[in-house]
Amino acid sequence: MRHPIFSSGSFIILPILLAVLAITRQAESRAFFVFGDSLVDNGNNNYLLTSARADSPPYGIDFPSHRPTGRFSNGLNIPDIISERMGMESPLPYLAPENTGQRLLNGANFASAGVGILNDTGIQFLNIIRISKQLEYYQQYQQRVSSLLGEEQTQRLINGALVLITLGGNDFVNNYFLVPFSARSRQFALPDYVRYLISEYRKILLRLYDLGSRKVIVTGTGPIGCVPAELAQRSRAGECSVDLQSAAGLFNPQLAQMINEVNSQIGSNVFMAANTMQMNMDFVSNPQAYGFVTSKVACCGQGPYNGIGLCTPLSNLCPDRNIYAFWDPFHPTERANRIIVEQIFSGSTNYMSPMNLSAVLEMERRT
Ligand SMILES: *[C@@H]1O[C@H](CO)[C@@H](O)[C@H](O)[C@H]1NC(C)=O
Ligand SMILES: *[C@@H]1O[C@H](CO)[C@@H](O)[C@H](O)[C@H]1NC(C)=O
Repeated sequence: MRHPIFSSGSFIILPILLAVLAITRQAESRAFFVFGDSLVDNGNNNYLLTSARADSPPYGIDFPSHRPTGRFSNGLNIPDIISERMGMESPLPYLAPENTGQRLLNGANFASAGVGILNDTGIQFLNIIRISKQLEYYQQYQQRVSSLLGEEQTQRLINGALVLITLGGNDFVNNYFLVPFSARSRQFALPDYVRYLISEYRKILLRLYDLGSRKVIVTGTGPIGCVPAELAQRSRAGECSVDLQSAAGLFNPQLAQMINEVNSQIGSNVFMAANTMQMNMDFVSNPQAYGFVTSKVACCGQGPYNGIGLCTPLSNLCPDRNIYAFWDPFHPTERANRIIVEQIFSGSTNYMSPMNLSAVLEMERRT
């Protein structure tokens, strides 16, 4: 008697069976959704007519392919490293044409370099995917997955997913402080501007919740006054810009406070505040303790601190990216991103509030 697995019918049935198994397996693994700006964009802007792009060398020089991908890093960025640590596939940029079928089930990255909380942030970059549009794409994504898995499975995928959102830096650097006497700085004193940003950010987070997100890491801004670009423009002797640091100093604690309130309002710790200011300041203020030779000079760039203009094929390029905290005038190296992600997973409540990602995953495992 022939075993049915060797019958000719198995040539049709087996592939179907494998496909079904693959779909159920994928549906059981966790999806990851990413929203925000250049700190987390992994290539959406490659598909847009915009000047905010990282698609030419030496970007990506330490990426597995050693090619530029649109990430503003020498190698991996923060969402990549989170995916790596959780054993998930890095979700593709939402605009990537190959992001269809099975691949959609890993989630999607909606982030777009240059955007902020406000619609008027980053207008100088022309076409970027503003946050309201990123949320629209998230809805569209859910419809596309629904036609693949059905409503109920899709809801489960969305509710079980991990979400990362990174916004705010550009609302200062590429809006309020972009030029002296910017429209927003004439409209608002800094403390009022920060309150306005927080009130708009609250709406964005509640929208994410309404769209089914239940585990959301929200990062604050980094030390925006200490990045090589700002040192080059505003610093006399390498000290951080007082104006930009005080903006971050107002914004970050109010963001953490607002997240706390939103969690209470919802009655569940859906949102986790990542104190990226502190995470960055650790190595910015004591680079040697983290194996960096400098936190002031970018690896790739030109002019003082390699902080003027963009990182291009003609820029200075450091030979060893592992000993630099900043890759280009604004963005950390992969090595610095790894230090940040380590704190997201295991940091004390001073870094992650109300709890770190390991604690969230552990709680989930137990219930
Ligand atoms: C930003 O633009 C979107 C889409 O045009 C709009 O729905 C939203 O209300 C705007 N946000 C603000 C704060 O004006
Ligand atoms: C953070 O995560 C670690 C596990 O890596 C855990 O032992 C620790 O208690 C957590 N810290 C806080 C403050 O939740």
